[in-house]
Amino acid sequence: MSIRSIIIGTGSCVPKRVVTNKEMESLVDTSDEWIRTRTGILQRHISNDRETNSYLATQSARKALDMASVLPQDLDLIIVGTMTPDMPMPSVACLVQNELGAKKAAAFDLYAACTSFLYALSVADKFIRFAPDMKVLVIGSEVLSRVINWKDRNTCVLFGDGAGAAVITGTKEDRGILSTHLHADGSLGELLILKGLDVDLPPGHSTLEKGQQYIQMQGREVFKHAVKAMETAAREALEANKWNEDDVDHLFSHQANVRIINFLGERLRLSQEKIFINVHKYGNTSAASIPICLDEANRTGILIPGHRILMVAFGGGFTWGSVAMCW
Ligand code: ACO
Repeated sequence: MSIRSIIIGTGSCVPKRVVTNKEMESLVDTSDEWIRTRTGILQRHISNDRETNSYLATQSARKALDMASVLPQDLDLIIVGTMTPDMPMPSVACLVQNELGAKKAAAFDLYAACTSFLYALSVADKFIRFAPDMKVLVIGSEVLSRVINWKDRNTCVLFGDGAGAAVITGTKEDRGILSTHLHADGSLGELLILKGLDVDLPPGHSTLEKGQQYIQMQGREVFKHAVKAMETAAREALEANKWNEDDVDHLFSHQANVRIINFLGERLRLSQEKIFINVHKYGNTSAASIPICLDEANRTGILIPGHRILMVAFGGGFTWGSVAMCW
């Protein structure tokens, strides 16, 4: 019997402050109606100074560890998927390791934009297949509000802050992560770009004047690529596991835009109740979006052992991928 990785605990944390679409109307020339109909977003959670990336990550981790009944000192590895770390060094993973007191855990951050959580899950899965007793904490955590140009209506209405975590270990049972497929295409990187942390272009007057410290996006192009890439990654997962579309019980797609999620659902011919959506509450939380979905679904009891789960994400880089698992 082969070893598989299973999720034994999930957790999530979002900042307290909710910013509604109505509030966005006072910041930029937009409307609740435009944001709702184009994106499905109704509100987002925005961090204050104390709600740093590592704070949100640590809070989500504590909840996941609690659910898993795993002590921080028993963790072997912490991977944080993020593109908005507190600082380049130390990594968010090291900050979390220290906060938790996870003394024996190795720790590193992984950058794959909105696909980071699936990349991190895939890396954790590889470790566990070779060392099934390992306890790995995988987190997706972002404070995108800090890299958003609050004067650019094309982007500022889309994003939110938050973190989600999962504790992973090995099992000989016939469930857990069944397949992972990861992809990247650096030739399209300019379509969704954040230059603020460049070593070549450190924040300074010229960078600030050009607005290069903020996320810049060619929305329509990103939309087209996102739908196509996520469908391809989803179909790879179906094929690898010999699943039909009907075999999927839950789709957890990256929550960027409800239209992208529904397009994907339609292309995969999934009924609405199989498609998990919470983008209306949180906006696009990048690496945190899928683990927040997983945690919400887990805590509301809709994930039943044996359910077949398909996770699909797309993000800057471009990066995209899928993870199929049996709960
Ligand atoms: N309020 C009002 N009007 C707006 C706003 C706003 N917040 N933002 C843009 N507009 C205007 C534009 O200026 C444009 O006006 P114009 O025609 O006078 O030039 C008009 O609305 C239409 O703009 P489009 O870009 O064509 O609108 P579209 O229907 O494509 O929706 C959106 C824009 C929501 C950004 C869409 O393209 C999208 O969702 N793209 C994908 C974004 C995404 O998912 N990014 C992240 C994925 S990867 C990651 O998560 C990091």
